[in-house]
Amino acid sequence: MVKIKNIVVFASGNGSNFIAIHKSIEDGKINGRIVLLISNNPHSKAIDFARLNNIKTSIINKDIISDLVRHKDFLLKELESVNTDLIVLAGYLKMIPINIISEYKNKILNIHPSLLPKFGGKGFYGMKVHEAVFKSKEVFTGATVHFVDEIYDNGPILSQKKIKIFHDDNPETIAKKVLDIEHRLLPYIVQKFCLDKIVFKNKKPIVIGE
Ligand code: GRF
Repeated sequence: MVKIKNIVVFASGNGSNFIAIHKSIEDGKINGRIVLLISNNPHSKAIDFARLNNIKTSIINKDIISDLVRHKDFLLKELESVNTDLIVLAGYLKMIPINIISEYKNKILNIHPSLLPKFGGKGFYGMKVHEAVFKSKEVFTGATVHFVDEIYDNGPILSQKKIKIFHDDNPETIAKKVLDIEHRLLPYIVQKFCLDKIVFKNKKPIVIGE
């Protein structure tokens, strides 16, 4: 029997990816439970959803902890207090402190709304990604789930899903279609992680059954 994983989700905005993971758990598709939702934004819809669903929440931002060192320590303590097995960045707009990245190496997933390495890195977030994709006249875009390392949108890719861009698409329609595939891709990879189906071969992660 594979141990049930304790999942901590980080979200800053609407939280639709967080809700998609929660739904997959409710549907019995993920061998895990969400033990904590962390946000930098007290007005995030993810916070409202977590509270309604009795999920523990923690808000961490500069208004609450101004000192960067205390911020890092606090975050680590929060993660340790719930015996975190997996961290999922589901639309989290802040950089994860380096101490957390090394402590939870290969245990932090991120979802990005493009086919990385295209349209990733600093400055590529939210609608900015889809506007850049649209302007560049790409034929395809999509979503990527990857492990997080010290550099923005850089860690090893676990899975990508592609969609075609049509003549009548615009940044808004692209965003909507990409978000739709994110809601399937992220729970799928969380499910694989929770079943220990992400293994390493020659230091590269492989998703078993991909
Ligand atoms: C998603 O497009 C995700 O890829 C990106 O931020 C967006 C978050 O959406 N990192 P939501 O808050 O999950 O609705």
